[in-house]
Amino acid sequence: MAVPLVILSIATVFIAYKLFSRLRFKLPPGPRPLPVVGNLYDLKPVLVRCFTEWSQLYGPIFSVYLGSHLNVVVNSSELAKEVLKDNDQLLANRNRTPQINKFSKNGMDLIWSDYGPHYVKVRKLCTLELFSIKRVEGLRPIREDEVTAMVESIFKDCSKPEKKGKALVLREYLGLMAFLHITRLTFGKRFMDESNVIDEQGEELKFILNNAITLGSKKSIFAEFLPWFSFLFKAQNEALAAHDARGASFTKKIMDEHTQARLKTGNTKNHFVDALLTLQKDYDLSDDTVTGLLWDMISAGMDTTTITVEWAMAEMVRNPRVQQKVQEELDRVVGRDRLMTEADISNLPYLQCVIKECYRMHPPTPLMLPHKASTNVKIGGYDIPKGATVSVNVWAIARDPKVWKNPLEFRPERFEEEDIDMKGTDYRLLPFGSGRRICPGAQLAINLTTSMLGHMVHHFTWSPPEGVKPEHMDMMEQPGTVTYMGKPLEAVPTPRLPAELFKRVAVGTV
Ligand code: HEM
Repeated sequence: MAVPLVILSIATVFIAYKLFSRLRFKLPPGPRPLPVVGNLYDLKPVLVRCFTEWSQLYGPIFSVYLGSHLNVVVNSSELAKEVLKDNDQLLANRNRTPQINKFSKNGMDLIWSDYGPHYVKVRKLCTLELFSIKRVEGLRPIREDEVTAMVESIFKDCSKPEKKGKALVLREYLGLMAFLHITRLTFGKRFMDESNVIDEQGEELKFILNNAITLGSKKSIFAEFLPWFSFLFKAQNEALAAHDARGASFTKKIMDEHTQARLKTGNTKNHFVDALLTLQKDYDLSDDTVTGLLWDMISAGMDTTTITVEWAMAEMVRNPRVQQKVQEELDRVVGRDRLMTEADISNLPYLQCVIKECYRMHPPTPLMLPHKASTNVKIGGYDIPKGATVSVNVWAIARDPKVWKNPLEFRPERFEEEDIDMKGTDYRLLPFGSGRRICPGAQLAINLTTSMLGHMVHHFTWSPPEGVKPEHMDMMEQPGTVTYMGKPLEAVPTPRLPAELFKRVAVGTV
């Protein structure tokens, strides 16, 4: 008799506490949550579209419960400013699920670190050292090498007699390029040889990255948001621990190799492993932080690049007028007898408008990364209690007819008419976020994606596969934190430059 009574008492206290919390705060409105699961039952797979629909129903700020955890979603540029500027520091923590807590060693990296002395130190290192103008420029040869290698590989494939006039799946080329670029920048090595064979270490790295995706997709939303069920996911937890160990051993080997090379030659290279190992003492970084930072760069900088350029290319195929206008500008500024380089970008204003329009319509992280309140905060007149998660729906804001004229139209010229910043100072356009947690890799990403798009359109004219009308192309997103195209883009390339300009311009180690 005593045991059921104790359980009943605990349950009553718990429910009373929850009710008290709800009544104490004036929370934003939102869909009705069910006990235990909250609104998990009602979510649609493409979260950003689901949240944008809900913002029409409940208003520009609403509450949604993932399990019992409160998430507040803001969907207007005014509220984005309240979150990212007026209350920036109070909303700069991260919500770590038990799994994330495990692999980030309680937030010892940058992405998953709470705002505090550790965060400030590591962020300073990123701003002053890893993403300084000098280093981003110093890493340019890697970007240009990999962009030209991608162009060469597309050219070779589309020149094969059996593939002439046929569509290619662009994600295969963009994804490989993004992998080679980010792993070179981070780990200081090209894991693919001259004959395009990935070496043993590269295969191990690919395995680790693919395994992370597999584990991520298998991870149960129940295990993530209802932690008291986690004992049911023992096998999954063991798989995660094994994955973690494999990643750590990979990184240790790479770090040892670079330390040996530096001792031998006395040279420090520009890539992130050398930078971090040589700065480790000055910044008092633990080994966990160095390792965490390296994996942060891979996870933040690989898919986002592929996604941006895949959507950009889809818009080129759908809008031949824009594609032709970019080509005319490239022909005028660069000509047809040499390769475009990043140094040309400042003279290519229309190309810059096109990439901005792509970031507006297809931000790769459409809900940014969720922030967490470190104390009670008021946003839009509502209470955000300490510990709640806050997401900014930058996708909805960039399609809001109140701030954009014909927002669903892909029209780069809008940025010629009004010069709108996309690096966090204008709250209508926030693909990289804003405030203290803004993406530190934004400039590098803009340079790289603009260069990739420029090369693709300078070297080739792109058209839809036979029988597909541009206006019928599938422009839906895939579910996930980052939004790939739902259906990988297929397009037919027709080379437009002399054959000798389709060769990779290789550089050694940088
Ligand atoms: C198209 C490319 C990219 C986009 C759209 C993008 C977007 C973002 C966004 C929205 C955030 C979250 C901001 C916030 O929480 O308020 C973020 C954070 C971050 N990004 Fe990027 N990113 C891109 C590329 C990169 C690259 C290439 C790197 C590194 C090589 C990188 C490194 C990071 C890191 C380390 C963070 C965490 C910052 C923090 O928590 O303080 N990103 N990015």
